[in-house]
Amino acid sequence: SNAPVNVTVTGAAGQIGYALLFRIASGQLLGADTPVKLRLLEIPQGVKAAEGTAMELDDCAFPLLQGIDIFDDPNKAFEGANVGLLVGARPRGPGMERGDLLEANGGIFKPQGEAINAGAADDIRILAVGNPANTNALIAQNHAPDVPAERFTAMTRLDHNRALTQLAKKLNVSINDIKKLTIWGNHSATQYPDIFNAEVGGKNAAQAVNDQTWLEDDFIPTVAKRGAAIIEARGASSAASAANAAIDHVYDWVNGTPEGDWTSAAIPSDGSYGVPEGLISSFPAVSKNGKWEIVQGLEIGEFSRGRIDASVKELSEERDTVRKLGLVK
Ligand code: NAD
Ligand code: LMR
Repeated sequence: SNAPVNVTVTGAAGQIGYALLFRIASGQLLGADTPVKLRLLEIPQGVKAAEGTAMELDDCAFPLLQGIDIFDDPNKAFEGANVGLLVGARPRGPGMERGDLLEANGGIFKPQGEAINAGAADDIRILAVGNPANTNALIAQNHAPDVPAERFTAMTRLDHNRALTQLAKKLNVSINDIKKLTIWGNHSATQYPDIFNAEVGGKNAAQAVNDQTWLEDDFIPTVAKRGAAIIEARGASSAASAANAAIDHVYDWVNGTPEGDWTSAAIPSDGSYGVPEGLISSFPAVSKNGKWEIVQGLEIGEFSRGRIDASVKELSEERDTVRKLGLVK
């Protein structure tokens, strides 16, 4: 039988954690043949609630779950970790500016990066979910110089999945008919969901839609502001759908993306498509042999160019802010 994979989940007692842990333990993160050991990280005030969740995980008697350990010290939580899901983050409080939020998150993602550098397994894969996800991933990466930079990623799969459903509804087709959709840039309201290279039933999606007004006034803002719409409707930010996207991201990273399609993932830029090298920006991405690759050679029209540049500019500004705070090089 396979050796167990150590999965570290931060913010384990939060609402995404509650939606995520049971799916990991049931085998959906890595596959039905892979046993898992969970390593849960919380702040001291969150430990008791994490213990409660661990009791419920025990009570599921998941055949693949080989252990649960709970920590309030990142150095212990990341010891031997093969996968790290960085979910816990500092939410934006009243009157907090973006810079304040980035500074507060520096206090979380810097020590976690150091802990990953010190103790994680050689094959460690990191997905930052906690917001601002792209820049939090960048902070952690900067404090893990011994880990290959490409192992630090951030989640835009939720945006990708949101875009799939909006486009499928517009065209009255199944999700399964849509391929090659892309989310570019930041996991924020500036993100750009791109249908110009997407296909629907083998035909170009933008041509099938043939409605620039819908694209600009409906589709793009609906996808980009969906997080806020969920908060408005639920009184809490997306949780089960965010957990689902984290599962999708890691499953594809480990097991590969399907032939003839791609997905969206925020991964370190190699300079492709004019995105400054090193920024952790969302791209069209395939996973092969356990590695993300940016899909090359796509045509980027003038409209798309402007939208991509705007989101990448925001990412550059976030990087400048955390540089000034001494959190990244
Ligand atoms: P939550 O407030 O319910 O839970 C967060 C948990 O993290 C809390 O239990 C808290 O105690 C814990 N935590 C805080 N600091 C920690 C630290 N230093 N180490 C370990 N744990 C720590 O929040 P949630 O709804 O689960 O959301 C978590 C994050 O995910 C938020 O930042 C949210 O904005 C983000 N999010 C991202 C996406 C995305 O698509 N990228 C989607 C939804 C939510
Ligand atoms: C989401 O996309 O649902 C979240 O990032 C929203 C948020 O601000 O937590």
